[in-house]
Amino acid sequence: MDKPKVVLGVSGGIAAYKACELLRRLTESGHDVRVVPTASALNFVGAATWSALSGHPVSTEVWSDVHEVPHVRIGQHADLVVVAPATADMLAKAAHGLADDLLTNTLLTARCPVVFAPAMHTEMWEHPATQENVATLRRRGAVVVEPAVGRLTGVDTGKGRLPDPGEIFEVCRRVLARGAAEPDLAGRHVVVSAGGTREPLDPVRFLGNRSSGKQGYALARTAAARGARVTLIAANTGLADPAGVDVVQVGTAVQMREAVLKAAPDADAVVMAAAVADFRPQAYAAGKIKKKDGQEPEPIILVRNPDILAEISADRARPGQIVVGFAAETDDVLSNGRTKLARKGCDLLVVNEVGERKTFGSEENEAVVLGADGSETPVPHGPKEALAETVWDLVTHRLG
Ligand code: CTP
Repeated sequence: MDKPKVVLGVSGGIAAYKACELLRRLTESGHDVRVVPTASALNFVGAATWSALSGHPVSTEVWSDVHEVPHVRIGQHADLVVVAPATADMLAKAAHGLADDLLTNTLLTARCPVVFAPAMHTEMWEHPATQENVATLRRRGAVVVEPAVGRLTGVDTGKGRLPDPGEIFEVCRRVLARGAAEPDLAGRHVVVSAGGTREPLDPVRFLGNRSSGKQGYALARTAAARGARVTLIAANTGLADPAGVDVVQVGTAVQMREAVLKAAPDADAVVMAAAVADFRPQAYAAGKIKKKDGQEPEPIILVRNPDILAEISADRARPGQIVVGFAAETDDVLSNGRTKLARKGCDLLVVNEVGERKTFGSEENEAVVLGADGSETPVPHGPKEALAETVWDLVTHRLG
């Protein structure tokens, strides 16, 4: 089988050096990559580097190698075009269909999925001109990953960093796997919760659970690859932030409720994949609880936590919003699932069987997705990503 053909467009920003790592990941995983840097990108990383790492000649202008007509060929033959970093200037050119160099020509001739990974200063990213260009590109079906938050080129920090190359690679892999399928979540905002809440007893102890957060992260990544703007509310996962996803870190169930309610008002879908503790200790000891000789420990009194899923299901932040819950069951999986779906009032409930060696922390999952409309969608044992894709299939179907 032919290797998938990827065009890696590099525009002129300091983050261009990170695209070398993306290129390496793509080639090492069996992709045939043509690098198309802009002339200004070559100020940051030279043509020799791109050519050595990709094994192909590198040109920036349409009139180089004219006998091959590369400006038409490169785009036409690509299975994926990824532009990383995409500067504000590149996004503007792409949004307006300018074609003054090889990369912008390639973008116009490409009929395959296109991914942009922007990187720039926060002010440039937030400027209405850039935001409108991004919205235009997304409306046309391009996947524009949100920049990461953190240290920028100088001493300043903020939103605008190029996401980790490994994470951009994951987006590319998922977009390629979807082939010609439209990014069907483009223009949608989805909120996903992940991980397990921790309810503190004292400064060093908490009541927690064994959720790894991997299923929630798989949901966030797949939604981003399908074009959605994603807010991931993560509780105690220790996992790397997925590219293009706004991550909000929380600790407890009460903090998670606050973060979900804050993000939900403009969300088209909310997926509660987190394991939220049903109870928390009634009292929090400001100092570490010490053992006392000859005395039994004080009992821990628990109180109920708010049920976030039930609350957002009952009180939809916007009409037509789809709410998805997860249920981990050990016995009578399906009948408990149906009862829980009705009790929580959500549209879909992903029910999976858990046990000592099942699901927690593993890379795979097996589940049945129950619909409030009586539907039942079994998802065979497989990667958490596959389950995530099925969830988004069912969500997009319901969003219409
Ligand atoms: N959930 C929530 N808030 C809570 C507890 C759970 O939003 N306080 C959500 C979880 O994110 C998950 C779903 O509800 O999507 C199912 O949680 P689960 O704990 O399995 O359901 P419970 O109602 O607690 O039922 P059980 O009696 O089995 O514990």
